[in-house]
Amino acid sequence: MIPTIKWEDNYIYLIDQRKLPSRKEWFVCRTVQDVIAAIREMAIRGAPAIGVAAGMGLALGAQSIDTENYGIFRKRFLEMGEQMKSARPTAVNLKWAVERMIKIVEGMHDDQVEEIKQTIRNESQMILERDIEINREIGQRGLALVPDTATILTHCNAGALATGGYGTALGVIRAASEAGTDIHVFVDETRPLLQGMRLTAFELREDNIPATVIVDSAAGYLMRKKRIDLVITGADRIASNGDMANKIGSYQLAVLAKENNIPFYVAAPLSSFDLDLENGDLIPIEEREPEEVMSFAGHLVGPEGVNAYNPAFDITPAQYISALITEKGVLTPPYRSGIKDLLKDP
Ligand code: MRU
Repeated sequence: MIPTIKWEDNYIYLIDQRKLPSRKEWFVCRTVQDVIAAIREMAIRGAPAIGVAAGMGLALGAQSIDTENYGIFRKRFLEMGEQMKSARPTAVNLKWAVERMIKIVEGMHDDQVEEIKQTIRNESQMILERDIEINREIGQRGLALVPDTATILTHCNAGALATGGYGTALGVIRAASEAGTDIHVFVDETRPLLQGMRLTAFELREDNIPATVIVDSAAGYLMRKKRIDLVITGADRIASNGDMANKIGSYQLAVLAKENNIPFYVAAPLSSFDLDLENGDLIPIEEREPEEVMSFAGHLVGPEGVNAYNPAFDITPAQYISALITEKGVLTPPYRSGIKDLLKDP
C-alpha cells in the first residue's frame, strides 16, 4: 500500500491524488502554505487524511517561526491555524487536528519554543500512526456487519488514500476480505472528480479485491435488481444527532438503500464527529468550481458559457443510516445518546 503522506527530513511528502492512478508522484511541501494549497487543490483529500496533513502542516509551519519568545510564537501559530482551517470547510477532521495542535502549544507556555516545535512534530507523526490503528479497529468492528458472501457498494474514496492508511469504509472491506469473506465491490465512479473510479478501484486492484466500477446513476438499478447486499461509505462530518456529510451523491444512495431494504453503513473515526452541531443542516458544505462539472478528467466537455452548480458534499439524515462504525464501537439508531457516550473520553 503506498503511504498517503510522510515526513522525510524536514519536508512533508504526499502522494499527489490528482494524478492517480496514471502517475504516482510525490507532492513535496516545504512550507505550511504548500500544505494548505495541497489540501485546497485536493492533492490530498479525504477527511482523516486532511486532518493528518493539517497536523503535519502546522508542525512544518512552526519550524519557520523564527523567535524564542513564547508569546510571539503562539500568536503566529494561531494565525497559521486559522489559515489551515479555512483550506476546506466540510471535513471536521481539519478543525480537530488544528485544535489539537493549538491545545499543545497553549499547554506548553512555560517551555522553550524549540521544545514546543519538537513536541508538535512528534504529535503530528503520532496522529498519522494512530489514524492507521484506528482504521484497523474500525475494520474489525465493522466485520460483524458483513455477511460471509457480500456484494458491497461504496461511494467516493474512503480508503488508505483518504486516511493515514488502510481506510474507513475500505478498512471494513479490507478487514472482511482478510477474514476470508467472499467479497465483490461495486464502486461508484463519483463524479465530478472520479475518486471512486480513480482511487477506490485502484486501491482494490492493488489488494486483489474484486471490483466493478459503475456510473453513479446505476446504483439504484443494481439495488432494485438485488445485486447489492450492503452500502458502506465514509463521512466528512457527523453531527450530534447522527446526520452526516459525505461526498455528493451519498444521500441519494442512502434513500435508495432504505427503499430497497439494504443496510447503509457509515464508517468513521471519532475525530469526524462534531458535537457542536445539533444536526446535519448546520454542516458547512463546500461548493467547488463549475468547471469540474463541465469537464471530464480535466477536459472541458460541456458547452462554454453554460453554468454548472457543484456542491462537493451532501447531508444524509440519520434516519437513513443503519449503523455508524467507529473505532470504539458500532452505533445503531437512535444515535444521539450513543454518540455522546462514545465521545465522553476519546
Ligand atoms: O472531496 P473529497 O475527495 O475530500 O471527499 C472525500 C469523501 O467524501 C470521503 O468519503 C470522506 O472524506 C471520508 S474518507 C475516509
